[in-house]
Amino acid sequence: MILSPSILSADFGILGEQIKTIEKAGAQWLHIDVMDGHFVENISFAMPVIKSIRKYSDIFFDAHLMIENPEKYIDKIIDSGADSVCFHIEAAKDPKQCIDMIHSRGKKAAIAINPATELETVLPYVDDIDMVLLMTVVPGLGGQKYIDSVNEKITKLRKIVGKDYLIQVDGGITLDNVSVAMDAGANVIVAGTCVFAGDIEKNIKTLMSK
Ligand code: DX5
Ligand code: ZN
Repeated sequence: MILSPSILSADFGILGEQIKTIEKAGAQWLHIDVMDGHFVENISFAMPVIKSIRKYSDIFFDAHLMIENPEKYIDKIIDSGADSVCFHIEAAKDPKQCIDMIHSRGKKAAIAINPATELETVLPYVDDIDMVLLMTVVPGLGGQKYIDSVNEKITKLRKIVGKDYLIQVDGGITLDNVSVAMDAGANVIVAGTCVFAGDIEKNIKTLMSK
């Protein structure tokens, strides 16, 4: 399993310190949620924050763009330090163009789909990308409840892409339900609230032991 703690739930006053703790605890990736107030209701953070935390850590930066017109920002997000860029199929006018932009910079490309979006929308691109992100909550907010009906989608995708392909789940993961997502076929786990509530190191170790 690859664990990608989402800094959306971090304490931004001590973000650099918390990232060091995440790294020390053994998480392999760091999930970076960029929100624009259009594709989703909320606004989070973007380039300046990514750029400053890049100085604190060499951990793999997994950027999740919840924004309209992702093609306008892909280069800037990569310039700031992202190692992979995930855009939403619902937001991209030309998904192939976005994939090519990311790959031409030597970074990993991923596509996210919302819980209500059909799996079929991403299937034409799976061979061109490095990962599919299946949202397990409606994007825009941390701390929501995991939508169980997405499990079926995870299992269906796993059957199509084979055992080694990266299938990421994002939203509502807890110490109790992480095994459910993994049993369904997910191998990259995003977790915000359940990593940052309480003892970060302990939470990461517990999640990774599942
Ligand atoms: C939701 C974001 C998630 C969020 C997950 O729109 O994409 O990455 O940080 O937070 P939790 O784990 O609290 O649901
Ligand atoms: Zn996310």
